[in-house]
Amino acid sequence: MDKALIAHAQGLHGTLIVPGDKSISHRSIMFGALAKGTTVIDHFLFSDDCKRTLAAFQALGVPITIKGDQVTITGVGFNGLKAPKQPLDLGNSGTSTRLLLGVFSKQPFPIQFFGDASLSKRPMQRVIGPLSQMGAQITATNNDFLPLTIAANQKLDAVEMTVPVASAQVKSALIFAALQADGVSKLTEIAQTRDHTERMLRQFGGKIDKDGLTLTIKPQNQFVAQKFRVPGDMSSAAFFALAATLVPNSQLRLAQVGLNNTRTGFLDVLSRMGADFRVENVDSKTAEASGDVIVTSSKLKATTVHGAEIANVIDEIPLIALAATQAEGVTEISDAAELRVKETDRIETVATELRKLGANIETKPDGMIVHGPTALHTVTSDQVDSHGDHRIGLMLAVAALVSDSQLTLTDASAINVSYPNFFTDLEQVLD
Ligand code: S3P
Repeated sequence: MDKALIAHAQGLHGTLIVPGDKSISHRSIMFGALAKGTTVIDHFLFSDDCKRTLAAFQALGVPITIKGDQVTITGVGFNGLKAPKQPLDLGNSGTSTRLLLGVFSKQPFPIQFFGDASLSKRPMQRVIGPLSQMGAQITATNNDFLPLTIAANQKLDAVEMTVPVASAQVKSALIFAALQADGVSKLTEIAQTRDHTERMLRQFGGKIDKDGLTLTIKPQNQFVAQKFRVPGDMSSAAFFALAATLVPNSQLRLAQVGLNNTRTGFLDVLSRMGADFRVENVDSKTAEASGDVIVTSSKLKATTVHGAEIANVIDEIPLIALAATQAEGVTEISDAAELRVKETDRIETVATELRKLGANIETKPDGMIVHGPTALHTVTSDQVDSHGDHRIGLMLAVAALVSDSQLTLTDASAINVSYPNFFTDLEQVLD
């Protein structure tokens, strides 16, 4: 599907409730399925990715009903799952694949996973290796890729290990396996990554200890069903936060956005770049804090992003690169080689697409150097391409708002992975 993008916007105003958080939506289905009782989740994100997790548990016999954006799950526990009749199609979803590898690593029946072309190229050995060390038996294509099979397995051993990659997906898979292991496990991260799994585990009545970057997990399977609202996705709010910053005469309220401090790195980066925003109505009484972010347009200056901050902004780096094209000075992003194994190689796809619009970007093995500011307009093509990657498509839609040329986004339906209503939301806040 091609989509004509809105160019040279005049301003963004009003209030937007952005869709539910993708990471939290995935996990809410998992813990709901593992808990005793009925879990009710409001403001669930019905995007392609989260629907894959939902469908996977339905295929394993978990009763799940949907009403509007509310999901009701009747939990069955680790021991109540049933053999699926078919291989599970996980579409484009790396989060479903990696977390479910851990959740399903000790079931009395085999489970097969497959996915789309992009997911089939994404590395799984980073999860399969540590899970195998615990006793899981997973056979993957070329040892690393989907399609794969998790064999029936009766036993997982506890481990003490360093999580090999700074990845919340890998950490979470290992937490789910550790919950089913024969003893106490200790997992040490090399950098703090998003901690939604840990928070939700506690929210559902489980126990996990944290000391610095080390987590201690005892075996447990007595989770208690919960009722809660998924906060807005900071990674989705980020598209509008940058749009309101870049489009002159804007003032936009992004309401009830998740403010978990392992996810707010993008706001820190924007702040260093001189963006004008404030946070109001903070609610930190729930497992996941939320609040309103009010953004007013402003001029930006360059910054550097590297080291431990990268894990906290990993999904927002395409947007940071776009911000840098409009900022005064040279922005350097380093230590971000993980971008090369996301839904696309996001170092290359960001550079390729923004260069079409006149951006001055150098790529490095682990990041980018962006020389700003440059006006954005058609230089080589008025067709920009999502490359099938939701965050690239959404970033380009924001780039179009400050571009002087009319652009068309090819493969625009990729945005359905995390933000199916993006264009409707955009129209609602555009002057
Ligand atoms: C996610 C973790 C991140 C992120 C992805 C969602 C999660 O991946 O990029 O969109 O829900 O745990 P990594 O932890 O592998 O970097």
